[in-house]
Amino acid sequence: MQSSDSPTPLIGRAPCMVRLHDQIARVATTDFAVLVEGESGSGKELVARRIHEQSARQGGPFVAVNCAAIVDTLVEAELFGIEDRTATGVRGRAGKFELANEGTVFLDEVADLSARAQAKLLRVVQELAIERVGSHSTRVLDVRLIVATNRRLKSMVARHRFRSDLFYRLGGVEIHVPPLRERRSDIRLLAEHFLRQHETPPRRCLAPCAMDALMAHDWPGNVRELRRVIEHVLAFSGNGPIRVEDLPAAITGDYVRNLEPSLARDESMRAWGSRYARIVLDRCGNNKRQACRILGISYHTLQAYLRYGSRTTDRPMRTRPANANGGKEGSDTPS
Ligand SMILES: Nc1ncnc2c1ncn2[C@@H]1O[C@H](COP(=O)(O)OP(=O)(O)OP(=O)(O)O)[C@@H](O)[C@H]1O
Ligand SMILES: [Mg+2]
Repeated sequence: MQSSDSPTPLIGRAPCMVRLHDQIARVATTDFAVLVEGESGSGKELVARRIHEQSARQGGPFVAVNCAAIVDTLVEAELFGIEDRTATGVRGRAGKFELANEGTVFLDEVADLSARAQAKLLRVVQELAIERVGSHSTRVLDVRLIVATNRRLKSMVARHRFRSDLFYRLGGVEIHVPPLRERRSDIRLLAEHFLRQHETPPRRCLAPCAMDALMAHDWPGNVRELRRVIEHVLAFSGNGPIRVEDLPAAITGDYVRNLEPSLARDESMRAWGSRYARIVLDRCGNNKRQACRILGISYHTLQAYLRYGSRTTDRPMRTRPANANGGKEGSDTPS
């Protein structure tokens, strides 16, 4: 387990993650507001934390606020604070911006702020000062603002769902966190990281087929979904290597559909190879050179597998036509 003051690990070595690490390091040397975009569970809050931890503000607080979770009538008090006795029984308190003074405030799900809250935020961003609810004096703050959203803010601006003046103050310095399906090579690293996080002897590892199944899934819930899957496995399976059967059925669906039915139909090695080659090719975005590298076969052999597959009715699932020749010619022997 990580201690609360050790840096937050942002796991990832895929080229898009190397770029992300580089962008984080660069923006951390500045004090600009940053907009972090990415699908739900892709790691936006983690990116915001890394920016804070690498910046000159690292000694100050990092205050995260989930804008979607605050009732609209309370947003102002929550973000900017409220004065004593503003209403009967109300006790004065600082808002998140004040609590983040000399540090970073992170507004998650910023697209969910109401029009009224957006107007208030605009003032704060413009003036770098806040006014507590019920107060007429402003407090100048030294806060860096990082906001995140899993929606396309630009299209929300076009649909008048988000203020353009606020968008242009928050946007500009944007970081995109790629979805997990675009960095499949990191799935192994992440899965092993989450296993280690919960490690109690005996040490568990993922059997090769289980890892293949994780790689085959599209991860709509991104890294958070992967973390929950590992937690599910640790909660429900026994000791020893983690097998495909230990994974939730919702995860192994693609994998089982693509590979297991071949057993049921007494499929030949050649037919299965063709099916598998197409799956890999599909996964590589039809990049044959990359598919050959992964499959460990020559270009010529790959072509033979594809020709074979295009002549059988037994087409694999989730594939697109990979052979423009449509299998007019070629040998049955895939090599
Ligand atoms: N690259 C990563 N390395 C390690 N853990 C990660 C990584 N990315 C995400 N996580 C973990 O996945 C979970 C979700 O991450 P996070 O909360 O940052 O996602 P998010 O994009 O902010 O999600 P949401 O849109 O739902 O707010 C967290 O437990 C986080 O620690
Ligand atoms: Mg988040």
